[in-house]
Amino acid sequence: MKVLLINGPNLNLLGTREPATYGHATLADVEAMCHHEAERLGLSLTAFQSNHEGALLDRIHAARGEGVGFIVINPGAFTHTSIALRDALAGVAIPFIEVHISNVHRREPFRHHSYLSDIAEGVIVGLGIDGYRLALMATGARQH
Ligand code: DQA
Repeated sequence: MKVLLINGPNLNLLGTREPATYGHATLADVEAMCHHEAERLGLSLTAFQSNHEGALLDRIHAARGEGVGFIVINPGAFTHTSIALRDALAGVAIPFIEVHISNVHRREPFRHHSYLSDIAEGVIVGLGIDGYRLALMATGARQH
């Protein structure tokens, strides 16, 4: 199954960005770990990161034509702001898991609401970058 890994705004700064909250792994580390895990699970993974809302929407739209069967997405701050991102995911009707590295529920109140969670297959928060790997494991389990 084709899986698309999407990281949203500021996640390109992983490794140097607020390490007490997000840890020391870089985005390259996360993507390498995900490629390794996908290979183990027999999934075909493509990774994409953008700081731009429109670019994320365009990538999600393109996924439908590419036959992507599942999306793992950390939408960053767009989680809490973007009805357009919600509409894009709902529009392509590709099932997805929402991942957050930090425990958003232990943080500022504005991070407690997600525009995506109620239409996600599942949500993983607060487990650090392991959350991405766990999302891929759940994805792999769904292909059988
Ligand atoms: C995040 C949590 C968001 O609130 C924040 O804006 C991010 C990262 C996380 O992975 O914990 O950019 O999605």
